[in-house]
Amino acid sequence: SAATSTNITWHEGHVSRDERAQLLKQRGLTIWFTGLSASGKSTIASALEQHLLHRGISAYRLDGDNIRFGLNKNLGFSPEDRTENIRRIAEVSKLFADSAAVAITSFISPYRADRESARSLHDEAGIPFVEVYADVPVGVAEERDPKGLYKKARAGEIKEFTGISAPYEAPVSAEIHIRTDQTTIADAVHQVTAFLETQQYI
Ligand code: PPS
Repeated sequence: SAATSTNITWHEGHVSRDERAQLLKQRGLTIWFTGLSASGKSTIASALEQHLLHRGISAYRLDGDNIRFGLNKNLGFSPEDRTENIRRIAEVSKLFADSAAVAITSFISPYRADRESARSLHDEAGIPFVEVYADVPVGVAEERDPKGLYKKARAGEIKEFTGISAPYEAPVSAEIHIRTDQTTIADAVHQVTAFLETQQYI
């Protein structure tokens, strides 16, 4: 189509991924959080970022609310827009991970197919992708309701709200499954870092 880039060429740089990893003493990867609004994914992602940085590991978080203020400000919450939201996030997290950083994404990412596309993008580039399911019963998320969004959704003031009037497809093969209503933030961070250590990602 007219909107598709043509006459473009991929340029390789001078530094390979292995050399970059050696020079920076760090390998990149993407840690992909998924879960309902108020599942605790952003809280855990933020604590994880802090923990990694304190260990001297370059980590950077991409978060739902924040990315939608900038890069994805033209997207709403229709299925098509959510898919495009996740596609762009996957591309950006892949770039961060390719730069040897630990990219930590925190988006509802409700569609399994979109998360699988994000994973494939990383797989094809040989970059590790770790999916973390921030699992909470919708009733508990609704009780927490830190932003009052569930209340608005119930009142019909927000259409297509995930868990109420729009679907959430739970992961079936996430690397890490955290029951956030039964786990402290510190234990959740430990669950992730223990996995990363076992895989020798950090
Ligand atoms: S998605 O589904 O992955 O594209 O969503 P995401 O980019 O993570 O954005 C979710 C945050 O947007 C707010 N919000 C909504 N969420 C779900 N459904 C609807 N309709 C909606 N409208 C606004 C909400 O604050 C989400 O933030 P979190 O941090 O998940 O609570």
